[in-house]
Amino acid sequence: MSESATATAAVTTDGAVVNPLRAGLQTDRISDPCSLVFFGASGDLFKRMLLPAVYALRLRGILPHDFSLIGFSRSAYTDETFREYCKTQLTAFSPSGAPQDAVWNDFASRIFYICADFTDRRHFDDLRKRLEVNDQALGTRGNRLFYLSTPPAVFPQIVTQLRDAGLDPRSHTTGWTRLIVEKPFGTDLESARALQREIEHVFNEPQVYRIDHYLGKETVQDILALRFANVIFEPIWNRTYIDSVQITSAESIGVEGRGGYYDNAGALRDMIQNHVLNLLALVAMEPPANDGGEAIRNEKYKVFSAIRPIAKDDVGNCAVRGQYGAGTISGAAVPGYRDEPDVASDSNTETFAALRLFVDSWRWAGVPFYLRSGKRLARKMSEIAVTFKPIPHRLYGEKTDAIDPNMLIVKIQPDEGISLRFEAKVPGPKSHIRSVFMDFNYGSGFSVQSPPAYERLIADAMRGDPTLFTRWDAVELAWEIVTPMLDVWENGRATGFPNYPAGSQGPDAARMLTPDWRLL
Ligand code: BG6
Repeated sequence: MSESATATAAVTTDGAVVNPLRAGLQTDRISDPCSLVFFGASGDLFKRMLLPAVYALRLRGILPHDFSLIGFSRSAYTDETFREYCKTQLTAFSPSGAPQDAVWNDFASRIFYICADFTDRRHFDDLRKRLEVNDQALGTRGNRLFYLSTPPAVFPQIVTQLRDAGLDPRSHTTGWTRLIVEKPFGTDLESARALQREIEHVFNEPQVYRIDHYLGKETVQDILALRFANVIFEPIWNRTYIDSVQITSAESIGVEGRGGYYDNAGALRDMIQNHVLNLLALVAMEPPANDGGEAIRNEKYKVFSAIRPIAKDDVGNCAVRGQYGAGTISGAAVPGYRDEPDVASDSNTETFAALRLFVDSWRWAGVPFYLRSGKRLARKMSEIAVTFKPIPHRLYGEKTDAIDPNMLIVKIQPDEGISLRFEAKVPGPKSHIRSVFMDFNYGSGFSVQSPPAYERLIADAMRGDPTLFTRWDAVELAWEIVTPMLDVWENGRATGFPNYPAGSQGPDAARMLTPDWRLL
């Protein structure tokens, strides 16, 4: 069956709620019938994000009617107790609240569970048999989407077991087989390459969907619409008019019980190598040849190939790391990073990273891209701020007036919108000038709430649309870009950690890259 076979429908299935305003949008295309298999289904991501996303797709009529969901994990559930578990988790985490019987009863009857040891081939044989039964009984037609949401250490094992059990796309040729891989894709360049080699033995690249959930955010997808569905931005989107670009992904939360994972990761691996670099690629890429996944991913790849490598002995000039100490967030005292559970008391892990990168291309020569991400900062805020060059000649304004350069701010979260800063005359007899903003807000602009990223991404993988997933060649380059910092930071202890209090703007040292960081 074709990789891209899809149906177009505005579906109202038994009790499903369909928002008519969304009719005709791309997300209303439903996929072929299929089975979704979640490895790691007893984990946190499944209950908080993945299950609510699948259920929301069902409510919105986007899930194919003939589907099945199979949880595959270590915890001891039966089909029945796993269905109960899912209902409880949906009640807790689904934005639509407790499932209603009219939808839930059919949905639940399509949920199954395999209590599994990932090292045991027999459990993968059980999975194959369950899938074959569902193909016949539930009409899933041999189409399979495997979702790796386990700890990454077992990804290779699962992929190999799928092949040995005849569940790989080369052995199973009735219908399509696809693989979604959660982040992190490796922990450094070498481990990412090793994982890729394992995957390549079993899956071809078009069958692999590497998740970067930032790409599923509506505001992130809108970057390309802003640039390429308008005529006014692209002519000035280059080094002649743009002075610098700042990309921030700041969080006020700490490690939230994930200290064990985070202490081996750090901000560079956890956020910069994937989410923040993907934002940079969308800002910096050339217009793609068409709106297809490959054309867009080709351009993103070219951006990463043009990023100037940072020499190890230049890391100190181009990158800053930080770690939070105790402080105050929203009026409440919070502990320092080294006092978080499962974090080493002398941890050298960075909870803040900032970089200055250059994209050595005709368009961007000489324009610095400042990137930063950190935990326990003053507030949660992700945005891209494009600062334009100063005016060439001052004509208006009183002598004491600062004339700020124009700035375009793409607000990714929690505010979702676009803001343009420009100078205007202050009303009155004098010719004072000051900055004002033209604001667009998604909520009021479209009267719909942006769907959570995972909904879009799971739906796209079911439909066979890889556009919002990362391609291996770009992932590999992204690892290459951060490798000098990883090496230097791992091999040299940071002096002065912790170097920023929780609830602050981050380490003062970040001002060495630019004094003009936007206020959090
Ligand atoms: C994840 C990181 O990929 O992204 C987390 O592992 C981080 O540490 C999260 O908190 C941030 O996502 P969002 O969508 O809340 O910005």
